[in-house]
Amino acid sequence: MALLFSARYEDSERWHQALVAELGDLDFRLWTPDGANIGDPADIEFVLAWGPKKGAFKEFPNLKAIFCLGAGVDHLIGRDLPDGVPVVRLVDPGLTRGMREYVIYWTLHYHRRFKEYADSAAAGEWRQLPQADTRKRRVGILGLGVLGADAAAHLCALEFDVAGWSRSAKALDGIESFHGTDGLAAFLARTEILVNLLPLTPETTGIINAENLSQLPKGAVVINAARGPHVVDDDLIRALDDGHIAAATLDVFHTEPLPADHPFWAHPKINITPHAASLTVQETAAVAIADNIRRIRAGEPPAPIVDPETGY
Ligand code: NAP
Ligand code: GLV
Repeated sequence: MALLFSARYEDSERWHQALVAELGDLDFRLWTPDGANIGDPADIEFVLAWGPKKGAFKEFPNLKAIFCLGAGVDHLIGRDLPDGVPVVRLVDPGLTRGMREYVIYWTLHYHRRFKEYADSAAAGEWRQLPQADTRKRRVGILGLGVLGADAAAHLCALEFDVAGWSRSAKALDGIESFHGTDGLAAFLARTEILVNLLPLTPETTGIINAENLSQLPKGAVVINAARGPHVVDDDLIRALDDGHIAAATLDVFHTEPLPADHPFWAHPKINITPHAASLTVQETAAVAIADNIRRIRAGEPPAPIVDPETGY
């Protein structure tokens, strides 16, 4: 039985080696655009994918699982997936660590006003700014799942005043929990640094829009490390230009790479990173994928399985 790889071909050998290191010998096949390397479709037991073409999975009668190469599955869902075959999200301590670092870095950047210090230094100016009280800095995380809960816990350990918003209510030590559509306004009203770690679903698309931005306090900042379509780009630009939102860090975009003529690039209040908040590292991700392959072979369900109803 074989595992079929369908993502960036330049990464395939590193994935192959990382999985062999975990599982021993492995029939690893590349899903090239012409399908020439698939061999007998009945051999394919697992697919490792980012976003293959619609309906393409139907040709594998013995498929046991589709492993997504990232935490977000928006690029897989809606691809006419075969009934009854689990789609498994990537939950990997390496990915979680990377996101934690990104969120902490940008939270501290805004909290401690490091851009202003950098601007002063560039101008040869010695200027101390008032020191804000960390315990009074209100950080709000949209999404309290694997990544959001981890970032929240670490911000809490730094003594920020942290809240999170999710679909279901949470009881997390030291973190104020808001949930559901009814809880969003109160969550936004208390949030000075907004971090987005939601999955992209029909419910969350466009959530960073004019109405929700207007509910943040004046001078709030936005850090979007989830997906580009969470943001209504024109609404964000308007909120930055009218001064209601002080700054934004954007890692993800409607179109990636971000087109050269997109106004985000030149906007003085926007920091851009190239969908690099947390990259999948083959060697740590392979441990999680191999563990799930072993579970399936032992007759146990893999985890976490995407719920087709909610889309995450
Ligand atoms: P996760 O464990 O599935 O967590 C999702 C969270 O969002 C959960 O708390 C969930 O609420 C909440 N949620 C979902 N729909 C909601 C809604 N309609 N209203 C309120 N809350 C809602 O996902 P994760 O592993 O933390 O990953 C989050 C996202 O990060 C991924 O989907 C991906 O898009 C993004 N990501 C980006 C990068 C990057 O480099 N930029 C890297 C990795 C991941 P419940 O807990 O109540 O279900
Ligand atoms: C990256 O964006 C991921 O979803 O893991």
